[in-house]
Amino acid sequence: MEQNRKEFLKKLGSGLIVAGMPSIALANDRTSIDTNDFIAEGEATDEKFWKKIAKKYYEVADDHINLENGYYGIQPKPVLQAFQKNVATANKQAARFARKEYPAIAAAAKKEVAAFLGVADEEIIITRNATEALNIAIQGYPFKQGDEVILNQLDYFSMIETFRMLEKRGAISVKEFEMPLLPKSEEEIVELYRKQITSKTRVILLTHVSNINGLIVPVAKIAAMAKERGVDVMTDSAHALGQIKFSLKELNSDFVGMNLHKWIGNPVGAGILYVKKERINEMKALFGDTGAAETSINKLAHFGTTPFAVIMTIPTSLAFQQQLGIERISARLHYLKSIWVNELQQYPNVEVVVPAGFSCAIASFRIKHKTAAEVADDLFKQHKIFTVARTLGKDGCVRVTPSVYNSADDVRRFVAAVKSIAAS
Ligand SMILES: Cc1ncc(COP(=O)(O)O)c(C=O)c1O
Repeated sequence: MEQNRKEFLKKLGSGLIVAGMPSIALANDRTSIDTNDFIAEGEATDEKFWKKIAKKYYEVADDHINLENGYYGIQPKPVLQAFQKNVATANKQAARFARKEYPAIAAAAKKEVAAFLGVADEEIIITRNATEALNIAIQGYPFKQGDEVILNQLDYFSMIETFRMLEKRGAISVKEFEMPLLPKSEEEIVELYRKQITSKTRVILLTHVSNINGLIVPVAKIAAMAKERGVDVMTDSAHALGQIKFSLKELNSDFVGMNLHKWIGNPVGAGILYVKKERINEMKALFGDTGAAETSINKLAHFGTTPFAVIMTIPTSLAFQQQLGIERISARLHYLKSIWVNELQQYPNVEVVVPAGFSCAIASFRIKHKTAAEVADDLFKQHKIFTVARTLGKDGCVRVTPSVYNSADDVRRFVAAVKSIAAS
């Protein structure tokens, strides 16, 4: 996923990208992507730059502050407009469009996703979400009876559930360990996984970015260690794509599930499964398709009727993402998180649950003597700030995820609100 913004702008100027990207060619859109808006440096602390982007490109509710962007991302206006137009096209042109024109449009969108990720388009399929992508990988993996899978409490519950289901059916056994909430180094994390491996271990589930405390695990290092021992890693990058910079190839993980509707800003209903080319042959399909070659990733993608407009909008979402650039996005998200983490870490009765050096937008906290659900409720009812309570230990935690359209002031209002709740 090499996202070189300057290179992108150069191509855009030469018209190379306009040809393949309906978003930018949509001259009649009420808000098209104006490349001039993205020329400034846009430092993480440059409120003027980010306010301008927020005002022009995002329409957000003004009756509350949304700090729960980890669920799904708000579509920037050009993306929403492209989506609405795509919905109208698929509706008006109906079956003729879906049968005759859509297949080529979907194939082109898939090619763009593959280019964006820096992998071959024969190595990816577009799914409805990361859960579906990872289910195809987990349930399609050629486990043998007695194989062991390693996971931990910070992994996403849907993936844990799928492995547990396979265990219940007698296919595998699951070994769950406790990941420390505040690991001190990447080496500590690699070592934790290394210690869990036995002669029976076949797969390690890695949650690239935790949805609970935001922990970013060193996927490439763990994968290298695991591969030396003949163990595969399956990577859940649902929260990584679009939030942090990484190269899919360099992750060295042969099976990766991702989302386009969290940090890429696509309409809800699009995920990606990556399977390294050499590994496709051994995968079993979850949805039957004996017509597809065993070596083709298409054998994993017999989905039936899919959401046309959601998939048609992907190139526009990628175009907007590339305009902002992953470095800028990540730096801004990290900065917004740091504002509240630095303040609340010092505050009595508040426990911040985030490994600050290994996280980006996502972080969580708890208030002593209150449950996470009570705190999230108070934040909304008393202060009109929306967050979410997540399961973590006895009292859970409140997860906070700002997005690029949030201002530093939004976050400061949140800090003041937590202080008042903690003091009450
Ligand atoms: C770490 C992680 N993995 C997977 C998912 C699943 O994403 P989706 O519900 O879009 O399939 C989520 C959703 O929040 C997540 O946080």
